Amino acid sequence: MPRSFIAGVGRYVPEQVLTNEDLKRYMDTSDEWIQERTGIRERHFADRTSETTTTMGVKAAQMALDRAGLTAQEIDFIVFATLSPDYYFPGCGVLVQRELKMREVGALDVRNQCSGFLYALSVADQFIKTGMYRNILVIGSEKHSFGLDMSTRGRNVSVIFGDGAGAVVLKPTEADGHGILSTHLHSDGESAELLAMFNPGTHANHWTRENPVADFDEAEIAGMFMSHEMIDKAQNFPFMDGQAVFKKAVAKFPEVINEALAANGLVASDIDMLIPHQANLRISQMIQKLMRLPDNKVYNNIQRYGNTTAASIPIALCEAWEEGKINSGNLVCLAAFGSGFTWASSLIRW
Ligand code: COA
Repeated sequence: MPRSFIAGVGRYVPEQVLTNEDLKRYMDTSDEWIQERTGIRERHFADRTSETTTTMGVKAAQMALDRAGLTAQEIDFIVFATLSPDYYFPGCGVLVQRELKMREVGALDVRNQCSGFLYALSVADQFIKTGMYRNILVIGSEKHSFGLDMSTRGRNVSVIFGDGAGAVVLKPTEADGHGILSTHLHSDGESAELLAMFNPGTHANHWTRENPVADFDEAEIAGMFMSHEMIDKAQNFPFMDGQAVFKKAVAKFPEVINEALAANGLVASDIDMLIPHQANLRISQMIQKLMRLPDNKVYNNIQRYGNTTAASIPIALCEAWEEGKINSGNLVCLAAFGSGFTWASSLIRW
C-alpha cells in the first residue's frame, strides 16, 4: 500500500498588519494584556472586499502546486478546511476548483475548526493509501476578520484571531518509512457550546432552551435563524469560554501526540519538529514543557499571525520548511485542538 507524502507546501497571509496597539482603536485592551495571556503581538487582516477565504486559499494552493511541480489540472481531489467560508453553502472547495480552472474533480469541505487541517490531511491520506486518488490539494484558510466583534464586548475572542491560508499537495510514495506515518482524530461533543458561533444556524435553541419550538409563533421561529435581536445581542459572533478551552487543550495536546508516537513505536525525543496548532503561545509552551522538548524542536509563529484556525498548521509548516528547520528524514509531529471539542495529530517522516 502506498503512503502519502507532502510534495509541496504553500502559504499566504494578507498584507494588512494590525498590532495590539492598533486594536486599541476599536476596543478597550492593551498590548501587555494580549501578550501576557496569548503571546500575540500582531495579526494580518484580509482586504475587506478583494480577499476572501477562497482567494487566500488559492494563493497558498498555487505556491504548494508550484513547489510540488504540478499544475492544478493534475490534481485529482480537493479538501478545504475552514470555519469562515465565503458562502454558508456551497463550500470553498468548489470555488477553488473554479478559480484554478481544474478538471471536474471532487471537492470536499471540512468543518473541524482548529483541527480542520489535520482532519483534511487525514481524509486525503486515506484516499491516497487506498489508491483512489494520486494528487490531492489540501487547503486550510480563514478570513476571521469579517466575523469578529471588534468592540470591547468581544475582546476576549477577537484579539486572538487572524487571517491567512496554508496548503499542501499530497502524492503517493512507495519509499520505505517516508511520508505520513499516521493520523489520529478525536472529538467530544459534550463541550460543543464552549467554543462556538451559534448563528446563523438551524438549532432553534434546541440545545439550550427547555421550551420546545412549538411554543413559538412562525415569525419567532423564522427569526431563530437570523434576526435583528441576534445581531443586537452580538449572537452572530463567536463565543468562547477561554479558561475551559485552555484547560482541555493542555490535556488533550500531549495525549494525542503521545498516541501518535505510541502507534509508531516512537518516543517524544524522536520528534525533530513539533508544530502545534497556534491557539495560544502559552498553550504551546505548556505542551513543550509536558513533552520535554527543547526550544529548537517546537515551531511557533502565533506572535505574528494570531490564531488562524484551519490555516495555522499549514502556515507554520510552510514557514518552518522555508527556514530550513524541516529536512529530509526529519520526524515532524503536527497536533491540534479546538472547537467541538475536536483534537488530532499526525506524524510525518519528511
Ligand atoms: N484586553 C483586556 N482585557 C481583557 C481582554 C482583552 N482583550 N479580554 C478579556 N479581558 C478582561 C476580562 O474582561 C476580565 O476582566 P475582569 O476580571 O474585570 O472581569 C479579565 O480580562 C480576565 O478575563 P478572562 O477571560 O478570565 O481571561 P483569561 O485569563 O482566561 O484569558 C484567554 C483569556 C482567552 C486569553 C485565555 O482564556 C485563553 O487563551 N484561552 C484559550 C483560548 C484558545 O486557545 N482559543 C482557541 C482555541 S483553538
